[in-house]
Amino acid sequence: MARTMNPTLLGGLTPQQFLDEYWQKKPLLVRQAVPGFTGLEALHDRHAMIDLACRDDVESRFVARAGDAWTIRRGPFAARDFKQRRDAKWTVLVQGVNLHAAGGDQLMRQFDFIPYARLDDLMVSYAVDGGGVGPHFDNYDVFLLQGVGQRRWRIGAQRDKALIDGIPLKILRDFKPSRDWLLNPGDLLYLPPQWAHDGTGVGECMTWSIGFRTAPTQEIAEQFLFHLQDTLQLGGRYADPGLRQQKHPAEIGAAMIDQVEAMLAKVRWNRAIVREFLGRYLTEPKSHVYFSPPDEPLSAARFAAACGKRGLRLDPRTQLLFSGNAFFINGEPSPAPGADRKALQKLADNRQLENLDALTVATVDLLHCWYCDGFLAPR
Ligand code: SIN
Ligand code: CO
Repeated sequence: MARTMNPTLLGGLTPQQFLDEYWQKKPLLVRQAVPGFTGLEALHDRHAMIDLACRDDVESRFVARAGDAWTIRRGPFAARDFKQRRDAKWTVLVQGVNLHAAGGDQLMRQFDFIPYARLDDLMVSYAVDGGGVGPHFDNYDVFLLQGVGQRRWRIGAQRDKALIDGIPLKILRDFKPSRDWLLNPGDLLYLPPQWAHDGTGVGECMTWSIGFRTAPTQEIAEQFLFHLQDTLQLGGRYADPGLRQQKHPAEIGAAMIDQVEAMLAKVRWNRAIVREFLGRYLTEPKSHVYFSPPDEPLSAARFAAACGKRGLRLDPRTQLLFSGNAFFINGEPSPAPGADRKALQKLADNRQLENLDALTVATVDLLHCWYCDGFLAPR
């Protein structure tokens, strides 16, 4: 189903045109993708950024440059950490802004022409004039949306990925940019993985990055094996009624190896197991994410009445995905909703429901359980 989107976001391209021509292939610069964008009310200037970077439930980094010397420090910070010399070139970057700033989740979900299963988070950086993290490349796709101020982006498709040795940041040794752009508030730059880039504040500025994730095969396989370990149930036990005396009692005999190989061949999986693994893995909250259940939860009846009037909204921390009739919320599979599958799909896509009209009692009870866990709330 084609979903409605801000028509300027991709500079007049349809989402499918963008996917066919640019996604994971080449950069796209869109002037005035979000006209009038200067950030969100909740995070509009240096002071709001510093407040966030001082919180211990927020992931933040501080990067400063003096000539060829680079410094990186990880938060939480104290406000005095940002009292730098006037000529210092520094930037502070805050991850997971979608979890911490009102409106951040909605901003990130404007990019819903990419599946949520690929979405990572919203990061915001504040840089002073000349501040930035230096020329580097990333392994993920990113949309860089310019907020307040201006940032100069230089990018290139170089093959040479050698990094400078002996410094605490991954900075390209020989950056050879082929494009050079000055981005103004509301301009958007899409970069595929592995493109070299360097963004520098021209005057103080803030940049909003919508980042995506792709796990390495090794990580997916390791996580899958953990999942398999938790779900595996095999019968039988090693047995050797036909044992032959060995020349060397210390030797691991060929018959033993054969038998164990056959036992291990019983470790099997199928599409349903892979689907369940993906549902759990992709919705698993990050390690520093905790939910806040309501102090005095409404009863199921009052909850239904409150949602009946105002609708409900997923908590920004909630990850709700589905595959067919299987739903997964925050790392757990959820009981199949049967008749109300479409409404729950709508909740997962839009992250809100206008009302609970025509939902079965069982679904309202399920939503009430999610509310009691802090996964969603009446609007
Ligand atoms: C980056 O290029 O990954 C950092 C973006 C920024 O400084 O906003
Ligand atoms: Co980058």
